[in-house]
Amino acid sequence: MKQFDLIIRNGTVVTASDTMQCDIGIAGGRIVQLGHDLGEAAQVIDAGGKLVLPGGVDAHCHLDQPMPDGLRMADDFRTGSVSAACGGTTTVIPFAAQEKGHSLRAAVDDYHRRAGGKSVVDYAFHLIVADPTEAVLNDELPGLIREGYSSFKIYMTYDDLKLNDREILEVLSVARQEGALVMVHAENSDCIAWLTDKLGAAGNTAPKFHALARPMAIEREATHRAITFSELVDVPILIVHVSGKEAVEQIRWARNRGMKIFAETCPQYLFLTAEDLDQPGYHGAKCVCSPPPRDRSNQQVIWDGLADGLFTIFSSDHAPFRYEDAQGKKPGGQEVPFQYIPNGIPGLETRLPLLFSAGVVGGRISVNQFVALTSTNPAKLYGLHPRKGTIAIGADADLAIWDPQREVTIRNEGLHHAVDYTPYEGLRVTGWPVTTVVRGKVVAHEGEVMAEAGHGEFLPCGLPEMARPRYRTSGGTL
Ligand code: URP
Ligand code: ZN
Ligand code: ZN
Repeated sequence: MKQFDLIIRNGTVVTASDTMQCDIGIAGGRIVQLGHDLGEAAQVIDAGGKLVLPGGVDAHCHLDQPMPDGLRMADDFRTGSVSAACGGTTTVIPFAAQEKGHSLRAAVDDYHRRAGGKSVVDYAFHLIVADPTEAVLNDELPGLIREGYSSFKIYMTYDDLKLNDREILEVLSVARQEGALVMVHAENSDCIAWLTDKLGAAGNTAPKFHALARPMAIEREATHRAITFSELVDVPILIVHVSGKEAVEQIRWARNRGMKIFAETCPQYLFLTAEDLDQPGYHGAKCVCSPPPRDRSNQQVIWDGLADGLFTIFSSDHAPFRYEDAQGKKPGGQEVPFQYIPNGIPGLETRLPLLFSAGVVGGRISVNQFVALTSTNPAKLYGLHPRKGTIAIGADADLAIWDPQREVTIRNEGLHHAVDYTPYEGLRVTGWPVTTVVRGKVVAHEGEVMAEAGHGEFLPCGLPEMARPRYRTSGGTL
C-alpha cells in the first residue's frame, strides 16, 4: 500500500504567515507531511508554477434559505457548493434562519434536511436569531451553541428579522455567557422606512433609489449603536458587510478604545458602486444588496482597511436570486418598487479570484494577507481552526491550487451557480483556482466538478477564541 493517498508536488505553498517551496503528503483526508522527496502516493498532482493555498472559507453566504412567500433562493447546497468549489472555496458557512414565531432548533433541523447529501464542500451553520423568546434565550440558543452552532447573526433592519435594542442586549448576553460570536447587520430600520416612504411619495421607486434609501449615515449610526451594546455587555462582535468610510470610522474608533470589534467586507464594496444600480430599465435590480455599494472613494477606504488589518475577513455574502424569475428579482413577474426587490447578489465563485487579482496581483495586499482574510481568519473566527484554514500537519487537506498568471474574463456562462447573471460580467481578472481539494479529494478541476454530491460534511464549530470577552465590565454576571 502506498504511504500517501495524494501528494501535491512542486508547488509554492502559502499560508497566512509563510510562503515556502515544499510538497504536501496527504493520507486519510489530512495533511500528514510537508517536505521534499516524500515517496509514493496513489495520486500525484504536479503544482509546478502554481500556488497551493488553504481552500477558501466563505463565512457569509446564503444557500437555500427559507424565504417569505413568493421568493426563492436560486442556489441550494448542490449548486452553491459546486460554485464554491470551482472558485477555490472548500468550506461554506450559510445560515439556519429562525422565523419569528418559530423555534430556533426547528430552523436548524430544517436546514440539515436542506443540506444533507448535497454539498461537495464542507459546511457549518451560523444561526439567525429573529425571535429571542425566553425559550430561545434560556434554552435553545445556549444548547445549540454548545452543540457546534457557535455563531449567530442578528439584524437591525428587515421587518421579518430585526431585533429591537433591548433584544440585542439580551442575545449579546447569551453570546457572552456561552462564548459565541455575534454577527451584526447594522442599518437603522426606521430611518430606511422613513426615507423609503419619502422616495415613494415622490415617485422615486426605480432600483437606483435603493441606494438613496440606505445612505451611509444609517449604517454609521447602527454600527455605532452595535458597538455601544458590545461595550455594555463586554462581548466581541463582528460587523458584517461593511460598505464604506463612515462605518469604518466607527470600527476604528472602537478599536482605538481597545474593543474587540471585528469587521467583514465583501466584493461588492470593492468592485461595484451605487451607479451599478442605475442601469437601463430595471437591470439595476441585479445589484440591489444591503448595505448598497457606495462610490469609488469608499472603495479605496475598503481597500485601505483590507491592507491595514481593519478587516478580519472577506466574505461573499452570496445571496442568489435570479433576475428573470417571478420568485427572484422580479417578484410575481413584475418590475417592483425597489423596497420589494429581494436583497442580495451572487458571488461565491468570484469572491477569491476578484480579491486575488485586484488585491494580490494589483499589489494592494500580500498573498499571505489574502490567505488570512479569505481562509485562516474566518476559520479562527468561527471555531474551525486549525482543522480548516491552514496548511499544517494534521489539518484537513483542503487546498486550492492557483495559476497566478491565468487571465480570465468573468462570464456568467462560465460560472456554476444557478443565478442567471453575475454583477461582474466582463471583468478581467488575473489568477484563477484551477484545482480544489476537500479532505484529500479533488472536488473541482478546470471548472469541472469531480466529486459526488454529499462529499461535503457538516462541521460542528468550536467556541472561537476570538469571541472571548475582555472582562472589563460585569457584563457576564448581569
Ligand atoms: O443584501 C444582502 N446583503 N442580502 C443578504 C442578506 C444579508 O443581509 O446579508
Ligand atoms: Zn446582512
Ligand atoms: Zn448576508
